[in-house]
Amino acid sequence: MTFDKKTLLVSLGDEAGLSLAAEMLRGGELVIFPTETVYGLGASAYDADAAYAVFEAKGRPHDNPLIVHVAKPEDAESIAYTNKLYYRLARAFMPGPITIILKKRDIIPDEVTAGGNTVGIRCPSHPVAHRFIELAGVPVAAPSANLSGRPSPTRFSHCTDDMMGRVSAIIDGGECDIGLESTVVLLTGEDSLKILRPGGVSRDALLCVVSDVTVADGLREGEIPLSPGMKYKHYAPRTPLFLLKGSRTRVTEYVKGKIAAGERCLFISYDEDSAGFGGVSISLGGADDVRSHAKRLFAALREADRIGETRTIDVIYSYAPSEGGDGLDPAIYNRLIRAANHTIVEV
Ligand code: TXA
Ligand code: MG
Repeated sequence: MTFDKKTLLVSLGDEAGLSLAAEMLRGGELVIFPTETVYGLGASAYDADAAYAVFEAKGRPHDNPLIVHVAKPEDAESIAYTNKLYYRLARAFMPGPITIILKKRDIIPDEVTAGGNTVGIRCPSHPVAHRFIELAGVPVAAPSANLSGRPSPTRFSHCTDDMMGRVSAIIDGGECDIGLESTVVLLTGEDSLKILRPGGVSRDALLCVVSDVTVADGLREGEIPLSPGMKYKHYAPRTPLFLLKGSRTRVTEYVKGKIAAGERCLFISYDEDSAGFGGVSISLGGADDVRSHAKRLFAALREADRIGETRTIDVIYSYAPSEGGDGLDPAIYNRLIRAANHTIVEV
């Protein structure tokens, strides 16, 4: 299939452009918009053909459902069956980086939910996203706006790189504040839920609102994940990525040794450790600044690909963040381990 659409680019603050893009979306066209997590590739959630076109534009497998974005938590009423726990979570975390899976109403076509009877509801906090959804006047079905298998886009330039000619408009909202996708949760009882995908809302934050929070594994080989997206190898840079597990000193020594032995590598590192690596390091920020690691991770993976286009790179190394723990670390781990195709080296 060829994609030769004329793509309207809407700058930050261009209210007329935003209205035009919202009108385009309501009319069945595809529009990329910023959110606080990553950019989304939107279609009217009421329009089966537009939803189908989202999969085509991304090259996304048709069995992986889209989530639906609303301007206010109550807007979920017309598309899904809500309950008390939904509103408890909405009060605590919406607008913000959480997606809540609910039973869908018939108005949402099968093309959006990949034939399933549930739908993910997300209410983004990014002011441009909020305004865009409000202006569109319809709920917006949107996956992340990357080509399938590429890192999710956290900057306008990532969207133009992947999607020029494939969508009708791209709205600039600056750099995404969180940089990793939303936490996807399945409500399993009156006071219990399961995390299907770790993200911007941590397990500890959820535990302040719900007593029983479990984490779906589904990442081990052969298991069927509850969240279909988790079965695909995502976020993969073109060069093999290895996660290095060990103290920061051991990791940096290991990479130095590899360079000394003639290996052509890139090192995704922290500010404090990047000295001495010159052009082969890409920093995620200060070693303790986990928010910065999350915010810059996808851009770093894209940067690694870009460098690999002009220079031969044999391997990319990165720290293995802690898999458990608080805050954003589990979400960072989840993205990196898949980008690395589960390759961890103990150093
Ligand atoms: O932060 C985000 O969630 C971003 C922004 C654009 O909102 N969106 C996003 O969408 O990451 P996507 O499609 O790339 O990831 C949604 C994930 C996928 O893993 C998908 O399989 C899962 O949510 N999902 C969607 N609908 C589901 C459903 N009804 N039941 C279970 N999992 C679902
Ligand atoms: Mg995605």
